[in-house]
Amino acid sequence: RTVAVLFGGQSSEHEVSCVSATTIISNINKEHYDIIMVGITREGKWLKVNSIEDITSGVWRNSKITAILSPDTSQGGILFIEGNKVTVAKVDIVFPALHGLYGEDGTVQGLLELAKIPYVGCGVLASSISMDKLYTKIIVDALNIRQAKYVPVLKNEINHMDDVVKKVEETLTYPVFIKPSNAGSSQGVSKAHNRDELITGLKNAIIHDRKILVEETIIGREIECAVLGGSDPKASGIGEIVAAADFYDYDAKYNNAESKTIISPEVPEGVENKVRESAMRIFRAVDGYGLSRVDFFLEKDTNEVVFNEINTLPGFTSISMYPMLWEAKGIGKPQLIEKLLQLAFA
Ligand code: DAL
Ligand code: MG
Repeated sequence: RTVAVLFGGQSSEHEVSCVSATTIISNINKEHYDIIMVGITREGKWLKVNSIEDITSGVWRNSKITAILSPDTSQGGILFIEGNKVTVAKVDIVFPALHGLYGEDGTVQGLLELAKIPYVGCGVLASSISMDKLYTKIIVDALNIRQAKYVPVLKNEINHMDDVVKKVEETLTYPVFIKPSNAGSSQGVSKAHNRDELITGLKNAIIHDRKILVEETIIGREIECAVLGGSDPKASGIGEIVAAADFYDYDAKYNNAESKTIISPEVPEGVENKVRESAMRIFRAVDGYGLSRVDFFLEKDTNEVVFNEINTLPGFTSISMYPMLWEAKGIGKPQLIEKLLQLAFA
């Protein structure tokens, strides 16, 4: 069988995706699967890629072979075009090793549904809900699981900044977080300690999305949990991220070696079960399938578990929590990848 691994992509998490892809490709069982690699440039060009080395070095972006994954079900795979030569590679399954917009948000999943090619991970609905912070909030509210209090702000409301500020200040206390509703990772996110910073932060966030959330700040530890499975999903143990920066921003997450990952951290009695149970409930509620990493805070003053976000295509880098949490449960990377591929065929 042939697995096509898609990576890169038009999101702010392009680089992370390239690293995730190398981990995934290295751990696919080469005796059972042929592998096709397709890199998507930041501009959205799809290219055939020859090797993991080309991904690591970045030279894949110079590939002269265009890859076409058409929604037309009669194509039977991916078309490669080199000059005026066209070849077809049969594809049995796609692993979208993509993070953020145009990959983790249901768009690529929709293309694969049309093409009738099975793929790893969540479907269109779970992917798009989970990429949209506002819709995730609505679902988690319905589950009665605690999350940060929030004020949604739509693009047209930015023209009435006084009203927005009033609404925020009536509902929340500074410092607050400002987040684009529909953006991967932490770009466009800022922390406002006062009214001026709130206004600046809103104007910046609206560049990234037409919907913004202003959220109360939860002070506490960052606890994450991995979910794996189909109709009967399982939750892993828990892990903790100890960030180096003021908050876990894009830089601290990927460029700062001082962010640390701790598997099975010491937590008060009951916390681990609460996190695992909440993770599975949220995964089911968003219609999750295959995998997700669900992130929480353990609030400092109350020891309460507070939901933060769900990632339907979590990172697979060397510092990534998702594979590490399963390794701690005895499921190594090759076995994990095999399980994800099997779930896609199920
Ligand atoms: N969004 C990154 C890749 C993660 O959640 O791991
Ligand atoms: Mg994410």
